[in-house]
Amino acid sequence: MSIFLDAASGKDTQRAPIWIMRQAGRYLSEYNAVKERYGFWEMCRNPEVAAQITLLPVQRFPLDAAILFSDIMTPLADMGVEIEFAPGPVITRPVRTLADVRSLRVPGPEGTAPFVAAAVRAVREQCAVPLIGFAGAPLTLATYLVDSGAAADGHAGFRVWLHAEPEAARLLLDRLTEVTIDYLRMQIAAGVQAVQLFDTWAGAHDPAVYAEFGLPHARRVLAALADLAVPRVYFAVGAHHLFDRIAELPAEVVGVDWRTPLSVARRALPGRTLQGNLDPAVLVSRPEAVADRARAVLREGLGGPHIFNLGHGIRPDTPVGHVQRLVEAVHAFDRHSEAEKKVPV
Ligand code: CP3
Repeated sequence: MSIFLDAASGKDTQRAPIWIMRQAGRYLSEYNAVKERYGFWEMCRNPEVAAQITLLPVQRFPLDAAILFSDIMTPLADMGVEIEFAPGPVITRPVRTLADVRSLRVPGPEGTAPFVAAAVRAVREQCAVPLIGFAGAPLTLATYLVDSGAAADGHAGFRVWLHAEPEAARLLLDRLTEVTIDYLRMQIAAGVQAVQLFDTWAGAHDPAVYAEFGLPHARRVLAALADLAVPRVYFAVGAHHLFDRIAELPAEVVGVDWRTPLSVARRALPGRTLQGNLDPAVLVSRPEAVADRARAVLREGLGGPHIFNLGHGIRPDTPVGHVQRLVEAVHAFDRHSEAEKKVPV
């Protein structure tokens, strides 16, 4: 067993394992060098290239897990959606009407991004640490399909659409749920050892709307993986107000963004492994601040299983030396002796 899988399965490990959301990305010169030669979709679709990029960060830093290089939008191309990256996803013809939704295919297990299975197998042959697979949660995928551009106002266009077209919304979320289940089951069959469901835009909604349009679909996806016995991570950004609901999800691990202290999340999500939550901005700032703030996060994470991560994806302007410093600081922190110090005797 690895320390990452131990913590993901609920063990209060002596040190916190660490991986970093978007660890294979633009802050790495090796990534940018590969990107000179290929378009983003080519990088996702070519299994050798996707595997090579997946391995870049674990070759450079002693991280405790790898995450497959791909994107949450990858399986949607096989539904018949045309997607460009600029650098975020842009949908050529946004989904708006019931007819638009009806025209989206559910390609089935064999037809959903089959190149990803080959990439997973290639990584597993070469990788010493566990490989995490992932998908976007239905609510977040729907957000991009309906309203890809307008992140700045919390995707208000999508929030309008949910209430203007509830029938189309339900059908869209159902189809996305089916595709996501097929896609994640395929990744697990190919060899990923944990999965993360990214619900990046869940926090844009109030609890009642999340309970109606987000939670049931995320629950169906996660529950459909139960028989495959890999740890399931659910991560929503800015979702403190949804913790009561998130506590209902069948996920062993819950990701927490940087705004919510892990001790607060711990009370709201008993029995879960927590993952997070250093502010990605800290990692850009100064090596001493990185180590100090990382230790503060680690102390907040005591009292239950913890996987160290950022509170959201790493920023492209992050100096690589700061990442090295972060991994060292996390690995040097002895959770068991720190926990003893914390408890008054
Ligand atoms: O974490 C990893 O290293 C694995 C690869 C990965 C990518 N996207 C590669 C990528 C993962 C896990 C994702 C998930 C993803 N994609 C999410 C959920 C995580 C989150 O950030 O909340 C979302 C919302 C997307 C959609 C998406 N794709 C956005 C918003 C962007 C632009 C953001 C940015 O980094 O500028 C992308 C493009 C993308 N996906 C890039 C990478 C490395 C940058 C593309 C480039 O190199 O130009």
